[in-house]
Amino acid sequence: MRIGIFDSGVGGKAVATKLSELLPHAEIISINDHKNMPYGNRKPNEIIQLTINAIQPLFQAKCDAIIIACNTATTVAISTLRSTYPDMHFIGIEPMIKPAVKLTKTRCIAVCATPSTIKSKRYSELKDTWAKDFKIIEPDCSQWAELIENGESDKIDTNSTVKYLMKKNVDVIVLGCTHYHWIKQRMKNATSPNIKVLEPSDAIAARITTILN
Ligand code: DGL
Repeated sequence: MRIGIFDSGVGGKAVATKLSELLPHAEIISINDHKNMPYGNRKPNEIIQLTINAIQPLFQAKCDAIIIACNTATTVAISTLRSTYPDMHFIGIEPMIKPAVKLTKTRCIAVCATPSTIKSKRYSELKDTWAKDFKIIEPDCSQWAELIENGESDKIDTNSTVKYLMKKNVDVIVLGCTHYHWIKQRMKNATSPNIKVLEPSDAIAARITTILN
């Protein structure tokens, strides 16, 4: 089995690593679009076109499935990808709102994601479906993905973000961008132990294994 993984940048790496542990016999081809990232600050049409262009090598490589390991590209582009390429099996990654509302006791969660994800229609649908009666705080993370991509994640003030969220009574923080995997530990270190930080790479890899099996 050959599986393609796409992210705009280093966000796909954590998913690729997990997946190769879970599916040691699968061939995993991981690609990115470093030169056009961050996708999260672009308009929907641009994100759709860039994603279509970027994943072409995965079609040429005859992948059996393509994982869009990018919340931004998933929320903005996956429905277009599915209708444009009906024969390809696309698996996307979206902000983990459903698990977060199951875990929260304060009924107040935070979603850290790119501006394009937050503005997407799909994200609004997820909120309407799973979190209608919950409070959702969306802190400004507009610079995070690019800083992480460029190895400058130490410039992200995780302490202030977490402090702000705790003041708002948030008890579950969703990391809704695959780049944030690389600051998960720093976010965790900044929170008190009763606050959960959710990030999808483990859950996604397990779900993908189930789907593909
Ligand atoms: N890793 C992508 C995501 O999950 C976004 C990075 C970018 O803005 O390009 O949303």
